Amino acid sequence: MPDDLTIARALHIFGVVLWIGGVGFVTTVLLPAVRRMKDPAERVAFFEAVEKRFAWQARGTTLLVGVSGLHMVHVLNLWDRFLIIEYWWMHAMVFVWAVFSLMLFVAEPLFLHRWFLARATAKPEQTFRLIERLYWVLLTISLITILGALVGSYAG
Ligand code: HEM
Repeated sequence: MPDDLTIARALHIFGVVLWIGGVGFVTTVLLPAVRRMKDPAERVAFFEAVEKRFAWQARGTTLLVGVSGLHMVHVLNLWDRFLIIEYWWMHAMVFVWAVFSLMLFVAEPLFLHRWFLARATAKPEQTFRLIERLYWVLLTISLITILGALVGSYAG
């Protein structure tokens, strides 16, 4: 029977794969397809409707990654790492997690969804470009974090 640390690590990576894999799909496949298939005026509403399902998956995987990550920090007593710059990838993990959590649990339900739709009526092309840019930024910082965490945790 694997110990709880092994299970936490497995769930952590499981969550990261589903979550950031989904962000990669949205960024590199879904958004370019919407741009090709839809008029600027329809793009944001169509994308938001399709993306809704992914937002729920992302909420679930974000929770899983956060809980499993915190469990590892607690059990391995890794809090000191947050004081050491060589462990920048630990800060990056928490940062990426916090950015997504804020967007998925606070900004989107409270105002972001409505703001995007309202802005899309006035400035459809710019709003869609803003969403595309936002996804590229989120994907880039996530991938840098994953590479840093893989190299860093292996190096000890
Ligand atoms: C609250 C947020 C998070 C916490 C507390 C956390 C914590 C941890 C801890 C303690 C480890 C084990 C490090 C070690 O074995 O030396 C780890 C590994 C890892 N984490 Fe996170 N993490 C968080 C979020 C994330 C996010 C958002 C990502 C992806 C963008 C991520 C990707 C990874 C990867 C790829 C590993 C390497 C696993 C391995 O090689 O075994 N983590 N995390």
